[in-house]
Amino acid sequence: MNFIITTPLYYVNDKPHLGSVYTTIICDSIARYKRLRGENVLFITGVDEHGLKIQRTALKNGVSPKEHCDEISDVFKKNWNEWNISFNKFIRTTSKEHEKVVYEFYEKVKASNDIYMGEQKGWYCVGCEEFKDNPDNSASHKCPIHKKNLEWKNETNLFFRLSKYQEAIEELIKDPEFIEPKERRNEIINFVSKGLKDFSISRTNLEWGIRVPDHINHTFYVWFDALLGYVSAISAEDKNYSLDLSIKSGWPASLHIIGKDILRFHAIYWPAMLISAGMKTPKKIFGHGFLTREGQKMGKSLGNVLDPKILLNKYGEESVRWYLLKDISLGSDGDFQDRRFVDIINNDLANTIGNLLNRTITMSRKWFNNRTPSIRERNNSEIITLANNSIKNYLVYFDNYKIDKASNEILNFATNVNLYLNKKEPWSLIKDDKNINEVKLIIYNVLEATRIIGTLIEPVLPQFSLKILHQLGEVDIDNKDWEERLKWGLLQESIDLPKPIPIINKLDYE
Ligand code: MSP
Repeated sequence: MNFIITTPLYYVNDKPHLGSVYTTIICDSIARYKRLRGENVLFITGVDEHGLKIQRTALKNGVSPKEHCDEISDVFKKNWNEWNISFNKFIRTTSKEHEKVVYEFYEKVKASNDIYMGEQKGWYCVGCEEFKDNPDNSASHKCPIHKKNLEWKNETNLFFRLSKYQEAIEELIKDPEFIEPKERRNEIINFVSKGLKDFSISRTNLEWGIRVPDHINHTFYVWFDALLGYVSAISAEDKNYSLDLSIKSGWPASLHIIGKDILRFHAIYWPAMLISAGMKTPKKIFGHGFLTREGQKMGKSLGNVLDPKILLNKYGEESVRWYLLKDISLGSDGDFQDRRFVDIINNDLANTIGNLLNRTITMSRKWFNNRTPSIRERNNSEIITLANNSIKNYLVYFDNYKIDKASNEILNFATNVNLYLNKKEPWSLIKDDKNINEVKLIIYNVLEATRIIGTLIEPVLPQFSLKILHQLGEVDIDNKDWEERLKWGLLQESIDLPKPIPIINKLDYE
């Protein structure tokens, strides 16, 4: 079965900020998890390059929109490689492949009699690329998200008959699986219950967009264009790229991960457009929360962004991944705090997991000739029960996209293994020869537990996982089924254990 997962297509008005890194890291860990569970994953990301916001940014920078987009799109792509993001497709909305899909889609919607010409008047936020329904009544209308002045627009535009899909959307959002988390779903249910209004899907006076074929002085509204990137991405690399080929090759998406600010577009406009075109709706929309920085909202337009590049160079991608995935529950807002970041990395990764591995390998090497111990019999240790329980919980959590809980399950297991080791005190037992078999068993159990930890952590921290497993002398991991690797007792006895090196360095406070 195909599992299609998408990030939003990021605006190229600026280079990636921590918010976009956050969304992408979430998708990456889910994509990795699904692959390990044997699913055929298509992980789509890309950039949203048209619209007024981008046109103005290019103008400000003194370059053409095309030059601007080429440059920033490239930055995004390189950036995801630096963050070790395992995307399969990167779609640009300025590509010819995408443009073709937009045209074909438009024809289908038109054939459903869902397009008409109308008057669009209202307050527009260029940051959101959205008309605002009820801007506050202050003299200067401001966007509640961007805190910038709204612009009055009065245009003749093409409209999409969203109102026709009132019942279809009500029906769709009734399914609790469609929008997550619950609170976000309630917001959408509430919004829809007030009655859906048609929205404009074209702009006049906007050069930088895809031309509407039968209305040459109109360009498509950036959202009517960008959402289709999820579809065009599927067949874009095939020489016969087309809407139909994308549909045949796997549409609908299984999961759109997005920030809560763009939920309406994804949970209402997008499914209605798809139904109009006779296409299937995505299976799930997950709206994650916002990242704040030491308590303050972070965003490109607000100018308080934490440059992810600096974090990447200073701490490495996996420390940042651990903080964002383990410490923030998917769907809730999260705060990035420097001090907490350092504490979490040091406590969880360097101490609880890293030290456990390091000191146990050191004992094993010292007492058993640089090898894992060979054990006479495998008893039903408490540690095996703990491992199996943790694995069971972890899988349920991950299946439900509770990545923080899944990560904490690994951590709790590691804490319990530390307790087991400290309680058993093999360093005291080893002093008496008659305890040798017991010591071997304890060390084997702890090493095997760290192998389980290293295996479980793979979707969250792929590099860290590999380092753990290599330290345990594990080779040829890729050729073994991941779920099989979660079975207790697979660590080989009497195999060489490489000299331990710290798998992560402790961080210092600045
Ligand atoms: N181009 C549209 C998406 C089109 S999808 C067909 C867009 N782009 S964006 O670059 O502005 O935002 C991309 C994502 O980043 C959104 O999901 C948004 O919620 C997320 N974030 C932007 N700021 C954020 C934080 N401070 N914290 C977490 N994520 C936030 O919207």
